[in-house]
Amino acid sequence: MTSRASQGPEQDRGEPDGAGSVGADGAGAALGFRLDRVSVNFGGARRALSDVSLEIRPGEQVALIGPSGAGKTTALSVLGAALRADEGGVSIDGQDPWKLSGPALRALRTRLFIAPQTPPLPARQRVVTAVLAGRLPHWSLAQALRSLALPSDPESARQALARFSLQDKLWARVDRLSGGERQRVSLARALVSGAAAFLIDEPLSALDPTLALQTLDVLAQTARDRGATLICSLHQVDLALDRFPRVIGLRDGNIVFDRAPAKVSGDDISRLYYNRDTGPVSGTEWTLETGAARSPGRPSRCF
Ligand SMILES: Nc1ncnc2c1ncn2[C@@H]1O[C@H](COP(=O)(O)OP(=O)(O)OP(=O)(O)O)[C@@H](O)[C@H]1O
Ligand SMILES: [Mg+2]
Repeated sequence: MTSRASQGPEQDRGEPDGAGSVGADGAGAALGFRLDRVSVNFGGARRALSDVSLEIRPGEQVALIGPSGAGKTTALSVLGAALRADEGGVSIDGQDPWKLSGPALRALRTRLFIAPQTPPLPARQRVVTAVLAGRLPHWSLAQALRSLALPSDPESARQALARFSLQDKLWARVDRLSGGERQRVSLARALVSGAAAFLIDEPLSALDPTLALQTLDVLAQTARDRGATLICSLHQVDLALDRFPRVIGLRDGNIVFDRAPAKVSGDDISRLYYNRDTGPVSGTEWTLETGAARSPGRPSRCF
């Protein structure tokens, strides 16, 4: 398992490990992201994102936390050029994705792996096919159709599944998997994708505490090994603080804090999750253990 990272935005801002290196499958250098006063309305009175500015450097690992409805999924969608902001500027790898030509935007998207909160895995598909779908953006239509009939590289899929202890499910049907297995199959796609940035929305929601830790470590290690950027939304506050060098707290579409976990206080967390109807979380306060005091595998606090 990896140890708690110490580098963060308010600490050493030097190049992260592996930044700028070429991804394992040729996806190119890690991608940096920038939001400049971004707002998203969805047509309603309340903004899903409100005047949000942030910069994520190539190769950084960042957790997004915050209560339900805070804007985490919306932020990931804007960062991944899956959703166009109503106001403000977005830059990926130094370019505004919405000003790129169709082919250039498609090329950029092949370098992004976006894992949605609810992965759309076809029920009757074999796991091997579902995992290899991580390569679809790189394939021609003919290659994609061929792989549907006869999986093109089952060994890669098996290796990716093995990282999540699911190698024995290679030829299983997706609808025969448990919810947690399905979630990890969708993450195994990230490993075969060769993307230069992973934008992953709540990857641990169906996992027990031990699997959650293992899964997060696989994602973080894979990103580090490839020099890829990792941005992950999480409801497991303990894991976000324990495993990420930078944590961004979102609430009501605003950034409440953006700092290294060592600088996130119990008050920060209480303010982030304060519920207007029920008051402070779990009674009164939130105590944070840090570093070595936190025991690996300990059930994490979810919100
Ligand atoms: N497609 C949409 N149309 C209208 N409103 C939306 C849409 N998607 C999100 N919203 C609203 O935008 C706000 C932010 O939603 P978002 O999904 O980004 O929150 P979240 O932090 O990811 O929440 P959760 O932790 O529950 O996944 C919410 O108020 C939500 O109702
Ligand atoms: Mg969400």
